Amino acid sequence: MISEPVAKLLVAQVGHELGAHQAYMGMALYFERQSLKGWSKFFHDQAVEEAEHAEKIISFLIDNEVDFGLPPVGGATTTYPSARAAVEAALASEERVTGQFNALADAAREAGDHRGFSFLQWFIDEQVEEERTMHGLLDLLDSGLNLYQAQAHLGEIG
Ligand SMILES: [Fe+2]
Ligand SMILES: [Fe+2]
Repeated sequence: MISEPVAKLLVAQVGHELGAHQAYMGMALYFERQSLKGWSKFFHDQAVEEAEHAEKIISFLIDNEVDFGLPPVGGATTTYPSARAAVEAALASEERVTGQFNALADAAREAGDHRGFSFLQWFIDEQVEEERTMHGLLDLLDSGLNLYQAQAHLGEIG
């Protein structure tokens, strides 16, 4: 079993991960609209990863016999003023998620929940990569290449 506070926060985190899934789908569609297939695929892949994060947490909750419902997910925009604005929104979202996992780790420590604390380590490490990916995209946008040319370099990021 895991502690009550960690279980509650993990259920909420399923909603945050599914929210991130939707947000990235919205970004993929924003790029798709401009026929930027490479950018669209990049964000679609990110969206799939977020759904996998939700599933990883769901499996852990089930393994620990936590009863839960799936939290409501709030929709996402498919329009941004610019590619940079979309990537900045993605970075802000990742930084928010990092804060959520830090709060989860604090809760696990306070509750003496070693099992929960250990589970969280993967996500805490993953957030380093996630933030780095978005910084990489901002550097690519700063490179002077246009969005079409930049697509050839997306494979070097993330
Ligand atoms: Fe995630
Ligand atoms: Fe993420």
